[in-house]
Amino acid sequence: MSTPTTTHLARINAADTREAVTRFLRNFLAEKRREALSSRTERLPDVLLEFLTGGKQIRPVLTVIGWVAAGGTGEREPVIQAAASLEMFHAFALIHDDLMDNSDLRRGRPTAHRRLAGGERSPEAERFGASAALLLGDLAFTWSDEILHRADLTPGQFAAVFPIIDEMRNEVMLGQYLDLRDTGKLSDDVDTALTVNRYKTAKYTVERPLHLGAVLAGADAETLAACTAYAIPLGDAFQLRDDLLGVYGDVDRTGKSTLDDLREGKNTALVALALRAASPRQAARLRRLIGDPGLDEAGAEQVRDVFADTGARDAVEEMIEARYRQSVKALEEAPFTAEAIDALQDLARSATRRTS
Ligand code: IPE
Ligand code: IPE
Ligand code: MG
Ligand code: MG
Repeated sequence: MSTPTTTHLARINAADTREAVTRFLRNFLAEKRREALSSRTERLPDVLLEFLTGGKQIRPVLTVIGWVAAGGTGEREPVIQAAASLEMFHAFALIHDDLMDNSDLRRGRPTAHRRLAGGERSPEAERFGASAALLLGDLAFTWSDEILHRADLTPGQFAAVFPIIDEMRNEVMLGQYLDLRDTGKLSDDVDTALTVNRYKTAKYTVERPLHLGAVLAGADAETLAACTAYAIPLGDAFQLRDDLLGVYGDVDRTGKSTLDDLREGKNTALVALALRAASPRQAARLRRLIGDPGLDEAGAEQVRDVFADTGARDAVEEMIEARYRQSVKALEEAPFTAEAIDALQDLARSATRRTS
């Protein structure tokens, strides 16, 4: 017979959460496919289902941990439904992000706008692909909402969940707008780059998913504040790692290009730190190469050399490490269940040392 502790451990198991969320999304999209207006619109749930496979699903995993952290008991399925809604929201954010960032590769496959363009590069096909990806992203957003509205939550849970979801949506959209505004305008303003990271990533990737799970268990203000104390440094570190992987990652592992950020002229903390420490010659090189849409691998190597020589790459690694420590330290004070603390410690390590 299983003890309460082993039951809890099974509930918090990340692989188990991923499997349950994937199963839920697969069934949901099969239903959408059946309801499609015609065989031509059936394609959209199919493309979305393909898009949804291969992600790390950190957000759903955090929702389940947040629920256990705040002492959640009883049926797990409503929590899985809420977590699946977040993964669908993330698909929306990525589909639109790839369009805005002009990215060709996501999760090792062509991005949604490329896929919907049918592999063609004519202006007509590209315009169709971009417009169809806008709609597919809108559908993912709408369906994330529908999943949440249809979830088996109590009236009290619904009342607690929606304010968090509202905040999360605002934060991501505004963060993405800030990111776009600063793209192509290289600057040595590290604080601004960190603010963009906070809003475009940290909150919707770590803080809000934990809050969502915690309020499903009836968390009080003190528990939510403890979630934030852990989540914000970790979320900031998660995006700093993403910035490094965007330049140094192994495409076979990340499933993303190492040229996109540089070609687009993304004003990351890495770039800002390099500009701050650069000699006039190094700064001129960065300004010439970053933001060049035709940048090739040889040009990217020159940029990487400047990132290394200015100490910017090491500085970002140190910033990740400091935030990782801060996040784990916050757990010492947190009023969470022991199983959740163990899971959050493991997750902090894997999310900051990841290669994918
Ligand atoms: C990518 O998110 C976008 C960021 C917020 C950095 P993830 O790194 O969670 O992407 P997947 O879901 O695992 O593909
Ligand atoms: C991450 O954007 C934030 C969102 C998708 C909302 P990025 O543009 O930095 O992430 P990747 O590198 O494309 O995954
Ligand atoms: Mg992007
Ligand atoms: Mg982006």
